[in-house]
Amino acid sequence: SAQKEISVEGKTYKLDEWMNTPPTILSAVSRRLHVQPDHPLTITRQLIESRFPGYKAHNELFPIVSVHQNFDSLGFPPDHIGRSRTDTYYLNKDTVLRTHTSAHQADTFRANESEGYLISADVYRRDAIDRSHYPVFHQMEGARTWDRNAAEKEGKTLAQVIWDDVAKIPKHDIKVEDPNPPHHAERNPRQGTHTAEEVEAIAAHLKRSLEDVVVAIFNAAKTASDAGSRSADEPLRVRWVEAYFPFTSPSWELEVFWQGDWLEVLGCGVVQQSILINAGVSDRLGWAFGLGLERIAMLLYSIPDIRLFWSTDSRFLSQFSSDSPIKRFVPFSKYPACFKDVSFWLKTSSNAAGGVGHVAPSASASATSSTLGHSFHENDVMEIAREVCGEVVEDVRLVDEFVHPKTGRKSFCYRVNYRSLERTLTNEETNGLHERFRQQLVDKLGVELR
Ligand code: PHE
Repeated sequence: SAQKEISVEGKTYKLDEWMNTPPTILSAVSRRLHVQPDHPLTITRQLIESRFPGYKAHNELFPIVSVHQNFDSLGFPPDHIGRSRTDTYYLNKDTVLRTHTSAHQADTFRANESEGYLISADVYRRDAIDRSHYPVFHQMEGARTWDRNAAEKEGKTLAQVIWDDVAKIPKHDIKVEDPNPPHHAERNPRQGTHTAEEVEAIAAHLKRSLEDVVVAIFNAAKTASDAGSRSADEPLRVRWVEAYFPFTSPSWELEVFWQGDWLEVLGCGVVQQSILINAGVSDRLGWAFGLGLERIAMLLYSIPDIRLFWSTDSRFLSQFSSDSPIKRFVPFSKYPACFKDVSFWLKTSSNAAGGVGHVAPSASASATSSTLGHSFHENDVMEIAREVCGEVVEDVRLVDEFVHPKTGRKSFCYRVNYRSLERTLTNEETNGLHERFRQQLVDKLGVELR
């Protein structure tokens, strides 16, 4: 008999067949890493906040939100992949663990307490397992709006007022690649409610503000790197690329060239006017961005594995301090990896894995299959690995995929890397974990081991 309700920090939620949130995920709610003194996420947050003077910072917003807040209020279409139970943690049909800080946009605009705001918070997503993905991570959302009526009362256009604010942003001399026009009718349209001059001014303020953040981060990272070790004199390269989000238009992503690759560090754009209108501030126009704090902190400190942020080991925590300059993280000894494979046939009968059938078509992960009338989603494999292994799984990847030529049955082989960041695992322990992982795949997904 399934549990009917659940309490999280004194709040009670009814559960229904949409519930897919394991207890280990719920237990992360109380951690609040981004406000723990001297935690690298806190220091990173504070460094970014310091580049937005006057913006109101919200750091305590509760992570359990409505589907309306997380998706509907932002204009996500009903069939958007992000809403699927394979990607998002639900408590019930109307209640999720927020998947992004944008879940608080509409409410924060409605409260209308400040021209600019920042929201830092834990966010939750079912996803792959590797050294840069963990099902709980932290984002910072920022937004800045201006009142068009107020500008015109002063005898100025809104664009003029915004350009005056652009001039107040600290200048930098890094190389920025920004080959696209600020808006493009097909690829990245300006909203009908905005003039070209307004969009151009908002885009300039947004881009200069975020470039200033990146410059501040990389200057801090440069002082952190041991003299001469990392290409300290290699100039910072950043570029703007066009993007799409349901809640901004035009939209962009900012990428930074880091160790040979372009790395996406944030998404942003001009706020959909419908969100501001619905929030009762129809005269206001502006921008919003969202960035991943772990990703920035990993760059800032050279932290090699995202699981470290959750560590309570003093060999990790003692390396960070709010009141001394940023120092590069010195990894404590690397413990041995242990690779183990598991191969299985997907279930062929129609009563699908995971109890109630998945609600939306799944197509985001690398291994999905909806043949034979049920769906298999890689994120379910990932979650079982997390549930069985906790922090002791470093990486899970699909290494082989095979369709039987006669029966049409599908087989997958996953390779699990068992490794603790804090100690050497014994053979008995990894064998035991792997055996439990295999058994759970059978019990929960109905697969047949090969
Ligand atoms: N919420 C988006 C994400 O999680 C980022 C974003 C925030 C984009 C605000 C535009 C504006 O990917």
